[in-house]
Amino acid sequence: MNDTRTTRPLRFVRRGQLLALDNVPPERTLLEVLREDLACTGVKEGCGEGDCGACTVVIGERVGQDLQLRAINSCIRLAHSVDGLAVWTAEDLSGDPALGLSPGGLHPVQQALVDCHASQCGFCTPGFVMSLFALYEDQGRVPVSREAVQRALSGNLCRCTGYRPLIDAAQRMMDLPATRLDRQAVLRALAAIEPIDEGGAYLQPLRLDDFLRLRAAHPQAQIVAGCTDVGLWVTKQHQQFDQIIDLTRVAELGHIESSQGRLRVGAAVCLESAFRTLRLLWPELDVFAARFAGLPVRNSGTLGGNVANGSPIGDSMPLLIALRAQVVLASLRGQRSLPLEEFYTGYRQSRLAADEVVAYIDIPLPSAEPDQWLRAYKISKRYEDDISALCLVIKLRLQAGHVAEVSIGAGGVAATPARARLTEAALQGQPWNADTVERAAQVLRGEFAPISDMRASADYRRQVLGHLLQRLWLQTQGHEGLNLESIGSGEFA
Ligand SMILES: Cc1cc2nc3c(=O)[nH]c(=O)nc-3n(C[C@H](O)[C@H](O)[C@H](O)COP(=O)(O)OP(=O)(O)OC[C@H]3O[C@@H](n4cnc5c(N)ncnc54)[C@H](O)[C@@H]3O)c2cc1C
Ligand code: FES
Ligand code: FES
Repeated sequence: MNDTRTTRPLRFVRRGQLLALDNVPPERTLLEVLREDLACTGVKEGCGEGDCGACTVVIGERVGQDLQLRAINSCIRLAHSVDGLAVWTAEDLSGDPALGLSPGGLHPVQQALVDCHASQCGFCTPGFVMSLFALYEDQGRVPVSREAVQRALSGNLCRCTGYRPLIDAAQRMMDLPATRLDRQAVLRALAAIEPIDEGGAYLQPLRLDDFLRLRAAHPQAQIVAGCTDVGLWVTKQHQQFDQIIDLTRVAELGHIESSQGRLRVGAAVCLESAFRTLRLLWPELDVFAARFAGLPVRNSGTLGGNVANGSPIGDSMPLLIALRAQVVLASLRGQRSLPLEEFYTGYRQSRLAADEVVAYIDIPLPSAEPDQWLRAYKISKRYEDDISALCLVIKLRLQAGHVAEVSIGAGGVAATPARARLTEAALQGQPWNADTVERAAQVLRGEFAPISDMRASADYRRQVLGHLLQRLWLQTQGHEGLNLESIGSGEFA
């Protein structure tokens, strides 16, 4: 290892103790540190790519005056990203004084899993425990619905027990004598950790101008946000990086603000927080948001990372294009704003200059005009935790039976996320009826030249594009029974 790969000490709180680990390589994962360096083998490795949830741990971070807990996948999370945070594994629930359990005692989550026979081989169980622990802490004393449990467990795969006893256990845990985390004790322990934002191969700037200075000084450095894409380059492609710049602590990028008719989402805001706000503005996005990966991935990954990564099958871009979002790029030279569809120049290529970063996503706030429709359709092989074969998002405003405004974003149809401009033109100003929709569906089928790959054939993609526009037409005619977007809200419980 050469000098440029030396890193600052990695400090985090576990079981009430401050740990400080030296010489942790920049791309070492949190799972490796826990299992290999700290011998915490209760954390399991299944897929190593964020898909199974066996490696789920909970991290705790000060947000304002409070402690925010999030279940994340430790297998694809870089260890240095938890510097200054608290970490719990399933083994820590009985060992953390802030939980007050006697050594070897069971937390209500664990007791409920025992009571409901919710474990057979047990390999997945530590991950389930941690997703449920985060839910338990989040939920307070309110009984938990089966739907909320499904969402909390959306990133955890169990191959032998079956989900009915797991969901039963999640509901039962709320009935057992309560064990609550002493959040003030954890916050006190976190307060002892001074931020270090300088030097070494893993940089974690705290202010936007420092971030931009580092970006300009190290144009070859690997930027990471939630690491849910980059983590796989490490675990599956064994990539190493001379320098990593982690943007998750940049204060200016950690907020969602609403002003001047737009919502501004900072690049360090995790997907789950971004989607929570978007669902408040557009409740019809409820299911679409829940179908983006699983909760632990959304708890780490960011909207900015999805946009910057620029995958043609990324899910947020069709939505953001339909919502007419702008991407705000920043460098030491200043800021510039582009419509999202103009950001991409080719397969995973964008207008981002070597010294620039994605700083914000600006989304126009919904207007109060009547007869507006927003539908986001995700077609994938699995219902949950799967990447799209195709994604189509349509925003429509009708007035006096005509299309007054329409914008359409599409994914899985070209080398980049795309805007369906020809289809928009075929709809704009036209009477909203079956003939118009049929004609526009033909345009939509011909507007792109999708490829055939393991997710879907080109023909299938073209056919389905037209069908999705037809589906919107039927939905506007009151056929909500056809609304497959509502599946998942309880029907699989
Ligand atoms: C199990 C699993 C399921 C998934 N499911 C989905 C899904 O359903 N839909 C979907 O669209 N995606 C999915 N993904 C992909 C991934 O979660 C998203 O792309 C996520 O939004 C990436 O954000 P991140 O913060 O983790 O990015 P990172 O992995 O940290 O970074 C991704 C890329 O973007 C760059 N980058 C990040 N932020 C910035 C910035 N502010 N400025 C400049 N460059 C930046 C990084 O340098 C890197 O090249 C899934 C991933 C996993 C592991
Ligand atoms: S090991 Fe499968 S999600 Fe981490
Ligand atoms: S108990 Fe065996 S995989 Fe869940």
